[in-house]
Amino acid sequence: MKEKVLEIKENAVKEIKNAQNLQALNDVRVKYLGKKGELTVLLKGMGALSPEERPVVGSLVNEARDTIEKQIEEKEKALKADIIKEKLEKEKIDITMPSKKQEIGSIHPITGVIDNVKDIFLGLGYQIVDGPEIEKAIYNFDKLNTPPDHPARDIQDTFYITEDIVLRSQTSPVQARVMETQKPPIKIICPGKVYRSDSVDATHSPVFHQIEGLVIDKNISMSDLKGTLEMFAKKCLGENTKIRFRPHHFPFTEPSAEADVSCFVCKGKGCRVCKNEGWIELLGCGMVHPNVLENCGIDPNEYSGFAFGFGVERIAMAKYGIDDMRLLFENDVRFLKQF
Ligand code: DAH
Repeated sequence: MKEKVLEIKENAVKEIKNAQNLQALNDVRVKYLGKKGELTVLLKGMGALSPEERPVVGSLVNEARDTIEKQIEEKEKALKADIIKEKLEKEKIDITMPSKKQEIGSIHPITGVIDNVKDIFLGLGYQIVDGPEIEKAIYNFDKLNTPPDHPARDIQDTFYITEDIVLRSQTSPVQARVMETQKPPIKIICPGKVYRSDSVDATHSPVFHQIEGLVIDKNISMSDLKGTLEMFAKKCLGENTKIRFRPHHFPFTEPSAEADVSCFVCKGKGCRVCKNEGWIELLGCGMVHPNVLENCGIDPNEYSGFAFGFGVERIAMAKYGIDDMRLLFENDVRFLKQF
């Protein structure tokens, strides 16, 4: 019996040493210490021994089990350490390798100008609204006091889808839509795309962007318009920017004006950007025509308002010194990367 115990122990220790992985080690555990394991079976057969032999063999078996358990435990630790080591080897990252170049995009100058203008007017308490690009002629023209024979309505200038539906040629129709659905006080700007039947050249594109502004309330006057535009010009183009009004005509405003800003490149002295004028044409504006208010369900005896509209490309070109509008639409990354 004693020899048997020693033999089992010896064999077990050998097999533990030889176990190549956790599964094999577990098999050894089951083989010797499991319910039907060799040592367990031996322990069960102790009843057959004489009373003198029993404690001697008993302590031998216990000693053998302790040894086997301890060895298994140590081997398990060693195997697990090997696994981790192997994993670390395999998953090692070579941080000395140059990384792939990450190309970082930039905001398109048109989007940049629009975002900037939105920020300025949000700060003045304006709402930002949207309108359809495919628009009813009645909103693009009639409600804006533009008579049927007005040259802007010519098919030479405006894209017609049907006789009554156009690609909006300006963001001004949004004015009419807002006035019809909102009660004064109204303070909105509307940025968006507009379409005109122009051929492409350095200063023209059949698609471009405008931003429209509209304020309707009691006692709104031309001085509110001028103060607002002055504030806007300073915030958008620099604190030293001056503004001047020139009389003009738009069907939907009376009186109407075009507003120029002092050239922010040469500060009014005359340069390439302002074509030696010292001033840059910024936008069209005026007091909303009483007919327009009436057309849109607002009583011109109770309310008055001002409106303005300008081209985003023109501002982006002036602001960034871009001399050809086509660059803004070709989307050559070498150009766009500069902003
Ligand atoms: N819609 C005009 C255009 O496209 C610009 C404009 C002028 C808008 C005067 C206005 C305005 O709101 O009051 O040329």
